[in-house]
Amino acid sequence: MTHRGPAVRPRRLRSTPAMRRLVGETRLHPAELVLPMFVREGAAEAVPITSMPGVSQHSLDSFRRALVDAASAGIGGVMLFGVPSVRDAEGSGATDPDGILNVATRIAVQELGDALVVQTDLCLDEFTDHGHCGVLAADGSVDNDATLERYRDMAIAQAESGSQLLGLSGMMDGQVAGVRDVLDGRGFGGTPILAYAAKYASAFYGPFREAVQSTLVGDRRTYQLDPGNAREGIRETILDAAEGADIVMVKPAMSYLDVLASAADISEIPVWAYQVSGEYAMIEAAAANGWIDRRRAIEESVVSIRRAGADAVLTYWAQELAGWLRETA
Ligand code: PBG
Repeated sequence: MTHRGPAVRPRRLRSTPAMRRLVGETRLHPAELVLPMFVREGAAEAVPITSMPGVSQHSLDSFRRALVDAASAGIGGVMLFGVPSVRDAEGSGATDPDGILNVATRIAVQELGDALVVQTDLCLDEFTDHGHCGVLAADGSVDNDATLERYRDMAIAQAESGSQLLGLSGMMDGQVAGVRDVLDGRGFGGTPILAYAAKYASAFYGPFREAVQSTLVGDRRTYQLDPGNAREGIRETILDAAEGADIVMVKPAMSYLDVLASAADISEIPVWAYQVSGEYAMIEAAAANGWIDRRRAIEESVVSIRRAGADAVLTYWAQELAGWLRETA
């Protein structure tokens, strides 16, 4: 009797590109990619961010051009961050209709209309001179409830500027309920909330600090989550959904795929993930050294985040990746 070999041969389904394509479980599409963008007040031209090769702080002109490119790439949305030229303890620029983020939002809505979803970061850290995500109490601690008042005002300023999705990234207790309440009371019942629900106190935000010229001294561990705590991330996800979030997010992505998968298992609303600045910088740096294949590493990283359960991904590669997807579609 001849030897038949293994009875089970999973390799049959990996034999050709066409077969692999047919049995692929996770596919990327431009519509589920969101591009974070930085707009710098007073900049005459785009200013490259050293630690994020390929990403810039935009001037208003370069921002307009980049928006047109983003729309033509077919991505799902843009997430806007403002880099103000003046900061103060209260983060006044966040609620000023002429503050850079609100100005940028109006431009984006004007340029893009409904072509893609214009989203804004709702957090004070870019606007405070101490760099914290909230306002401080007399003892220097971040004052949760006083911060909620600022977030409520910021939500109205952003909604009035035309933001189509408010990204609450400050990790204050009750922020989703507070913002939902003021939006509903002020005629913005149709404006949805993206809650950064499981946001960890991560070293991978490093390059972002350069991107927004953060003045933070110390860390955010009294409000962002401890990297070791998965259960707490799920608790925050459940709370934010109960408070009225329309979408919840896990952030960073790659070091928290377990949290993402658990959140995706239990959530009744969309779960997104943010592939943050440090994740971007690591792959760019390794690729620049010739240590990894840049395109394959980017595609693999984003596909992994989708496979773990993210319905959409915020990534600084959104536009470039969308271009590749169109090539291979
Ligand atoms: C807070 C905010 C941060 C990021 C997005 N929103 C910084 C932080 O929490 O320290 C980081 C994003 C990134 O690293 O790409 N406004």
